[in-house]
Amino acid sequence: MAGTILLGTQWGDEGKGKICDLLTKDMDMVVRFQGGDNAGHTVEVGDVALKLHHIPSGILYPDVKCIIGDGALINPSVILEEMRYLEDKGISTDNLFISSNAHLIMPYHLVLDREGEIRLGSSKIGTTRKGIGPAYADKTTRIGIRMQDLLDPSIFEKKVIAALEEKNIVLTKIYNVAPMQAEDILEEYAAYTEQLKSHIIDGYLVINDALDAGQNVLFEGAQGTLLDIDHGTYPFVTSSQTVAGGACCGAGVGPLKIDAVTGVIKAYTTRVGSGPFPTEDFGADGEMIRDRGHEYGTTTGRPRRCGWFDGVLARYAIRLNGISSLAMTKLDVLSDFATIKVCTKYEHEGQIYDVFPPHQSIFHKAIPVYEELPGWHSDISDVKTYAELPATCRAYIERLQEITGVPFEIISVGPQRDQTIFVS
Ligand code: GDP
Ligand code: IMO
Ligand code: MG
Repeated sequence: MAGTILLGTQWGDEGKGKICDLLTKDMDMVVRFQGGDNAGHTVEVGDVALKLHHIPSGILYPDVKCIIGDGALINPSVILEEMRYLEDKGISTDNLFISSNAHLIMPYHLVLDREGEIRLGSSKIGTTRKGIGPAYADKTTRIGIRMQDLLDPSIFEKKVIAALEEKNIVLTKIYNVAPMQAEDILEEYAAYTEQLKSHIIDGYLVINDALDAGQNVLFEGAQGTLLDIDHGTYPFVTSSQTVAGGACCGAGVGPLKIDAVTGVIKAYTTRVGSGPFPTEDFGADGEMIRDRGHEYGTTTGRPRRCGWFDGVLARYAIRLNGISSLAMTKLDVLSDFATIKVCTKYEHEGQIYDVFPPHQSIFHKAIPVYEELPGWHSDISDVKTYAELPATCRAYIERLQEITGVPFEIISVGPQRDQTIFVS
């Protein structure tokens, strides 16, 4: 029995896709447990950069089962397109399975997400507009539609008609947009069902059987800890549980089946969308990070907001998730800086916070207290061992290790598989 959770410790885009792909070589199964196609995970192998949204980043290994669990959302048109995209590149999707309890993203969720954001105006969340919030809202109010409903056309029809009775009032009366026709949705989704039905399984059972048989299962998180619906920077969060506990809920496994929790953390911080970000750098340094790190959204193409490493957030994420090891990514991006800032605590109205502030008003106005560490002025993207890293670079890593209190077992110095240092 060996369950490992891999998750983002910041606001997403930490490089989970790359690290998941790396770890998959020792896995029998990779499971996505929350989120939908709001995720954008990149796996670079040679000159191919695969952009995955729904499909677990273990898909490059033909013998590894990839499961999308109960807690995830599925937009059937998007996953089918993604499957075709992979097949066209010679990557088989025969081992991809979707849990029958996963909820469907319906066409009205996309419109409600878009219209909701427009209505919020300058207070908008900055969502990916993939329908995530409205789909999870329907799940919670128990009017959601699940993958298994696709397999029973009469139930599916009843649920779509019932949902539209309410949605069409909201669409026409509140948002002043066109209503949707049940027949159109039924026809569209019937075609998806034909293509997806052989991939629908009882997810929790398959995952637990694998764990009970002593197989290695990797639970691949999407988004990041600070985007968690309960523990993130609410309301500027996503609508699912991104923390380690979410893996147990979303996949349907007990916590005792988890042996390790690995947090993926960038050597600096980025965020997409609205919301507080204490270490954001609005000047030339932030721009340089964006430029060197190609910090543009995988899903939406939006420029990511960039700033320095935040030790307060890192410690918060480590506690919330019970993180036992860290994988640091994108260290190479900092190579050209003369000095590098690291936030160790916050200051607010004369008070120092070295843990996440208890009230969002404090977090919104928190002033980072920085240490400034020397840079290393050399390209590290081909370095293969820890000892070969320049001394100032090792000092940077070791300072972050002191601040976080957790070992960095993996250090990533580029997007490719071989641009990785395993720290023994
Ligand atoms: P995810 O959502 O956490 O999987 O991260 P994304 O794929 O959205 O964004 C991470 C980006 O950084 C991708 O384009 C990766 O190919 C790239 N990447 C991952 N690790 C490294 C690294 O160590 N250095 C550099 N320069 N790029 C990296
Ligand atoms: P990966 O898995 C970064 C952000 C959006 C927005 C907020 C809510 O690639 O790390 P949503 O569409 O989920 O309702 O948007 O969450 N967000 C992400 N930011 N990486 C992601 O995924 C994200 N998924 C959602 O930008 O601020
Ligand atoms: Mg991403």
